[in-house]
Amino acid sequence: MDASNANLRLTQLAKRAGCAAKQPPGYLLPLLGKLGGLVDPNVLVGSATADDAAVYKLSADLALVLTTDFFTPIVDRPYDFGAIAAANALSDIYAMGGQPTTALNLVGFPDEKLSVEVLAEILRGAADKASEAGIAVVGGHTIKSEEPIFGLCVIGTVHPNKVRTNAGALPGDAVVLTKPIGLGVITTAAKNNADQRGAIAEAIEVMSTLNKAAAEVLARFDVHALTDVTGFGLLGHLRNVTSASGVHARIWNDALPVLSAAREYVNQGIAPGGTHANWRFLSDWVTYDDGLSKEQQLLLCDAQTSGGLLACVDGASGQKLVDALRVAGVEAAAVIGRIEHGEPGQISVSIRPA
Ligand code: CO
Ligand code: CO
Repeated sequence: MDASNANLRLTQLAKRAGCAAKQPPGYLLPLLGKLGGLVDPNVLVGSATADDAAVYKLSADLALVLTTDFFTPIVDRPYDFGAIAAANALSDIYAMGGQPTTALNLVGFPDEKLSVEVLAEILRGAADKASEAGIAVVGGHTIKSEEPIFGLCVIGTVHPNKVRTNAGALPGDAVVLTKPIGLGVITTAAKNNADQRGAIAEAIEVMSTLNKAAAEVLARFDVHALTDVTGFGLLGHLRNVTSASGVHARIWNDALPVLSAAREYVNQGIAPGGTHANWRFLSDWVTYDDGLSKEQQLLLCDAQTSGGLLACVDGASGQKLVDALRVAGVEAAAVIGRIEHGEPGQISVSIRPA
């Protein structure tokens, strides 16, 4: 059977695109903080700080990086779904300054609605992406479910002194982003048969791209804070950085890499539920220039899957970092703002640098 052409479109089996929640970003964090349990001094990064992955010290010069991520289909081709889910899960290892070591598949599969060839294609997409990252997928677990669900649990390593977290951004730092935004708007347009420009192809390309090359370049720079842009959107993840670092950020709207079809579609009223939830949550944290429309604001909050790395580096190195990223093939890389003194956690969005 041709797995790419089942009668059922994969995204139509997903009750909602991606993992966009109705709850505000990070709503589980206060609960996680109250769970109690053993306090282990080897936990260098745990669940309390909204970081991308946990970090566990094994010895003076070796720590494990542990993360898992899974979601329902945001694209129709099973192979692409697997590749994107794998790239997305691997990204949280890179976002901690780590290198992936190995991974496990996490699968929910409606075997009465879809043939097993569909699952084989999802797994093949993930395995190819894992190979590209230099790791093997060594096992996993499958359950029967109403909607397809797929992701990875990824284990990586990092030197305990080289861990990159949301904390550490300093006033004067340049804020650098490595992939364009607008992925949530485009995948939602495609799911709703409203992608007149066929922009989903470019979005799949962006989402399937590993953050490996960007991470390798970043490892050569003095990175003060690092995360990746996923479900909370650019401003949501930046807020995690400004809060953890106790700083204020200023973003320049015109400096942002944005997929052009996303600008068009958001102006037609297309945006995922998670993007609107992000925008509402962020209203307490973000001040937008009066010249920015609601649609432009939504794009800045757009829930991404497998988005780029978001780095804060010494202000004098910002453009050098972007140049090095572009040489490494990370073409969308841009300095999108700077870290400033100001009310901790808050973000201001200007149209362009003053
Ligand atoms: Co992340
Ligand atoms: Co994650």
